[in-house]
Amino acid sequence: MSNRSRKLFYGDCLSAMRDHIPDESADLVYLDPPFNSKATYNVLFKPPTEFGEGSQIKAFDDTWHWNLDAEREYELVRRNVQSSDLANLIEALRRFLNTNDMLAYLVHMANRLLEVRRVMKDTASVYLHCDPTASHYLKLVMDAIFGKKNFRNEIIWAYRGGGTPRKDFGRRHDVILRFSKSKNYRFYDAEIRIPYQAEGIDRKDDSMWGSHKGTDKVYKPHPKGKIPEDWWLINVINANSPERLGYPTQKPQTLLERIIKASSEEGDVVLDPFCGCGTSIHASEALKRNWIGIDITHLAITLVKKRLADAFGELPIETHGLPTSYAGAMELARQDKHQFELWVIGLINAQPYKGGRKGADTGIDGYLRYNYLETGNGKQKIEQGTAIIEVKGGQTGVKDIRNLSEVVSREEADQGILISAVKPTKKMLEHASAKGFVKLGTRDYPIMQVVWLKDLMEDTVRVEYPESGWIDHTKTAPREKGINQTKLDD
Ligand SMILES: C[S@@+](CC[C@H](N)C(=O)[O-])C[C@H]1O[C@@H](n2cnc3c(N)ncnc32)[C@H](O)[C@@H]1O
Repeated sequence: MSNRSRKLFYGDCLSAMRDHIPDESADLVYLDPPFNSKATYNVLFKPPTEFGEGSQIKAFDDTWHWNLDAEREYELVRRNVQSSDLANLIEALRRFLNTNDMLAYLVHMANRLLEVRRVMKDTASVYLHCDPTASHYLKLVMDAIFGKKNFRNEIIWAYRGGGTPRKDFGRRHDVILRFSKSKNYRFYDAEIRIPYQAEGIDRKDDSMWGSHKGTDKVYKPHPKGKIPEDWWLINVINANSPERLGYPTQKPQTLLERIIKASSEEGDVVLDPFCGCGTSIHASEALKRNWIGIDITHLAITLVKKRLADAFGELPIETHGLPTSYAGAMELARQDKHQFELWVIGLINAQPYKGGRKGADTGIDGYLRYNYLETGNGKQKIEQGTAIIEVKGGQTGVKDIRNLSEVVSREEADQGILISAVKPTKKMLEHASAKGFVKLGTRDYPIMQVVWLKDLMEDTVRVEYPESGWIDHTKTAPREKGINQTKLDD
């Protein structure tokens, strides 16, 4: 039986850590929060060709503004009695920066970093991944929270590629601030040593080996090589790499592997409170660590689950914050329509869809792409089919089926699936069945399906379409070596 622990939380990492993660329970924390770059990250998915254009889904917005929420976060930091250093710093920053977007970002981060410190073991380390826009301010915040003496490294992750500005040097590095909780931090140097001549610098380290004049010191090369410097040349994931999954800001796995190997060992707990598409989690799983991932968007949580299933087979994962009951689902629909839609679409392994024809409202929330086998003239051919998904969180009626049916014809799709939070009426069901069937391969499938979310959640009803596994909306994570299709027990 597996004794590994794997946990995913959907929600703000502040409340997820506060409510679910005990004091001193994590061995390593890696966090890669959005940078306040004033960007809205749209995930670009490859659309089915007949839909014409790229479909974009808003994954997250990393723009902070000074508003009531920021004022609340500010008060929370100031009132935090644990750390008067931090309160002083934040007040000074308010005088310096005024109430601008950067201060909103910093108070947001300060509250979450306080929680990070609480959950860290005495022996743990934290790696805060940021960029030069905010790294100098974040270092002050980290100094105030973790103590200046616990600052361990400012790691420069350098890479190449992209365009360069005309009147500046090309900005091609991120900053990773490494702090420990105390002087008892662990560092597994043997796991991360590299050849002496590695990482592209010509200097011959061996020139210093041997006896040194005037001293009795003798320098010998370490048989496993050297500990890397605090600048790391690691390529970003290029556009054609099989590693690229289509999530913006995805970090290379080798980067995370080095961090995880340096500061944890097998069986340790790795926490990533801003896990995105789960690079740290993938690396932790491969390195046999226990892990906890948190993200505020359903899209990320769905992607992490798919990524792990592709790479390792089905794993037992404890998932929190996703609706597990119909009442919970209705609550999510009330609180956040967009996240509700993303969650429902993920429930049937479909692809979220936004955008489409010249920004017009397409009436499409998601789609499923599948393959089926067509036989003709004694030959077999793999065909691709599409089902268009519409999610309704509130009242719905026959007119929604009529609308969906029009979209299905317009887009020349094969099927339409309407998933309704409210129980569909008899009239709706009749209207849908009247649309008849489409033959896909050897079987007939309903052209129009209306599914009650409650039935879907309780698994009393399934959506009918030719089996295909997950569709092509994000790339598939390559299978990890030595992992076959069977379920893992460890
Ligand atoms: C820069 S991305 C992380 C990318 C990740 N390192 C990877 O390799 O995929 C930041 C993530 O933080 C999430 N996020 C933003 N605010 C959050 C919050 N308050 N709590 C949890 N996650 C949050 C965003 O949804 C986004 O997925």
